[in-house]
Amino acid sequence: MNFYITTPIFYVNAQPHLGHAYSTIIADTVSRFQKIAGNDVRFQTGTDEHGDKIAEAAARSNETPREYVDRISRMFRETWPPLHIEPDNFIRTTDANHINTVRSILQKVHDRGDIYFSEYSGLYCKGCERFLTEKELINGNCPDHLTPPEPITEQNYFFRMSKYQEWLIGHIEQNPEFIQPERYRNEVLSFLKEPLEDLCISRPTSRLTWGIPLPFDDKFVTYVWFDALINYLTGIGYPDGPDFARYWQGAEHLIAKDILKPHAIYWPTMLKSLGLEPYRKLHVHGYWNVNDTKMSKSIGNVVRPADLIEECGADSVRYFLLREMSFGLDSSFSDDALINRHNSDLANDLGNLVSRSLTMVKNFCDCKVPPAGAMRDSDRELAAAATGMVAEYRKQMEVFAFHRALREVWKVIAMANRYIVNNAPWELAKEPASRERLDTVLYTLLETLRLITLTLHPVMPATATKMKDALGVESPPDFDSQAQWGRLVPAAAVTPGAPLFPRLKKATPAPAPADNRARQSSQKAARPGRTERGKP
Ligand code: MSP
Repeated sequence: MNFYITTPIFYVNAQPHLGHAYSTIIADTVSRFQKIAGNDVRFQTGTDEHGDKIAEAAARSNETPREYVDRISRMFRETWPPLHIEPDNFIRTTDANHINTVRSILQKVHDRGDIYFSEYSGLYCKGCERFLTEKELINGNCPDHLTPPEPITEQNYFFRMSKYQEWLIGHIEQNPEFIQPERYRNEVLSFLKEPLEDLCISRPTSRLTWGIPLPFDDKFVTYVWFDALINYLTGIGYPDGPDFARYWQGAEHLIAKDILKPHAIYWPTMLKSLGLEPYRKLHVHGYWNVNDTKMSKSIGNVVRPADLIEECGADSVRYFLLREMSFGLDSSFSDDALINRHNSDLANDLGNLVSRSLTMVKNFCDCKVPPAGAMRDSDRELAAAATGMVAEYRKQMEVFAFHRALREVWKVIAMANRYIVNNAPWELAKEPASRERLDTVLYTLLETLRLITLTLHPVMPATATKMKDALGVESPPDFDSQAQWGRLVPAAAVTPGAPLFPRLKKATPAPAPADNRARQSSQKAARPGRTERGKP
């Protein structure tokens, strides 16, 4: 099966934060998972670089829009490799081929009679870059930006979105998996109960010049959402490139709930007008909040990915984000929660299992996979749990239930740790008559570790690679050939390495601040002091 996973392309009006990293880590994890499952995968992310917000941000930083977007887009691109995120394509809406494709699509939709010119009065939210309806406002404010939208009357071009309303309702109803999780599908269907308005898709150049000129009227530039959504097509070479034919039918978009409407309503109707099949699925996740408020650059309560990597390592950040949030719901971020998960799940549960098992193979089996003898009930139980885990993990990963998939893995990790205690290999090692039993126990542990490693590749790629190398597994991860029990070959070399996850110290609360300056300096000092890895 072909699989094309995308993140939103992020606005370059501020720097990347943990919210952006979450979506991009999920997409990377899904991409790695689908590859191991034997699929032909493409993963795309990028930056959204036109529109009011960007033009204003450039002016604020005294740069030309071009200089500004180049600089911030580079920051996004450079944020991903240290998080072990490896997109196949990083698209920018200022790329020449994107601009050409947007213009040719506008012309096509215009030629079909789906674009017309008219006057419009409405309430415009600059933060959302769209007109809001009265119904959406909360106390007169935009619900996302908490500011009042501006009344604007303007002549503009409109896309006949309303024409496709009935078709869209039918499509969502006939394809229950089109929008997931279900709560967002229901939200879209309930929104579609009201008549859909046509979409304003231009901005007069008298108000905004930083955009793609309309091919049929150069006094207007393209509305940023009409431009941005098309990235999903440009990035795979629409209309003629071989990758378009190869990947479009496998397109799955990943977004947070803030941009549900453009993705669930504007985008499928645009595709329909173009005569294209809609994307396959839309996956919608919730928000990372800090103190119950959405983490966002406009509010200023952002957490920077680089700080977290410095604190506990990229794999630990990836694990935390995927394990802690139930996909689709909101979650709260705190340093303490991150450190707790790192210490308990990674340093204690997984780290100890790996180091104890490998140390015993080193001490009792001369760093070689021992031969397995006759299995007892406790061995068979662990083996069945480990193979069952891989199957259940795959099921959950396929539906983006990452926290459940990881819970299954950690159940087996806990079971394996108990298995060590119950079988006490160090006691068996004292009795030459127990040699076969000792070998069987250690073989069972190594095989369990091998299967755990297989499941960890998508989520913690660097850790899984270390574990795979320590176990002497040579072939690249692959569920079809490696999910069966008993693939480790006796006498093969096992190479124990350094501990996988050094324990982190908990943050010690800073003393009550005498003034603001004292507080700032104590907070700055709190971060580096956390690790026990010899960092300052
Ligand atoms: N440029 C548009 C998207 C165009 S896609 C064709 C945009 N950009 S954005 O920079 O505002 O990014 C929004 C996305 O960033 C969210 O949908 C989500 O993927 C991610 N997140 C931003 N803040 C987030 C949280 N606090 N929590 C979770 N995800 C967050 O909208």
